[in-house]
Amino acid sequence: MLSGPGTNLEEMLAAARAARVRAHAPYSGFAVGACLSDEAGRLHAGCNVENAAYPLGLCAEAVAIGAMVAAGGREIREILIVAGGTELCTPCGGCRQRLAELADPQLPIHLCDLEGWRRTVTLDELLPLSFGQRHLEAR
Ligand code: THU
Repeated sequence: MLSGPGTNLEEMLAAARAARVRAHAPYSGFAVGACLSDEAGRLHAGCNVENAAYPLGLCAEAVAIGAMVAAGGREIREILIVAGGTELCTPCGGCRQRLAELADPQLPIHLCDLEGWRRTVTLDELLPLSFGQRHLEAR
């Protein structure tokens, strides 16, 4: 990788890359890997899993979040996403909302291409004025 913030970044990138090469993406041909750390510092990785019934496909981020929750993790502290292409792969709208459910608005989202780390943004930058549990509690 190039350089970048965070102590765990190299390990996260390695895990996301390892997941990415296992992606099931026969329809788009666009393989994505994600790795997140939870409140205990544990890492959970995921890749996209597409389906012949297209809308059923899962993003790498969603798969990593599911792995974290199934392993007992409750809070996303950092996430890294890696994909190929000349445009950096940012989480889709649905995954931004999924992240907002289990992370702070200041969540660092590390964006990587196949060469390594390129850029870090926060969840709040990608999903400002987000809807969340607090809205339901204030009803
Ligand atoms: N995809 C992800 O897994 N994560 C993203 O952040 C963006 C898109 C997947 C969904 C689909 O399998 C493929 O990339 C093309 O959209």
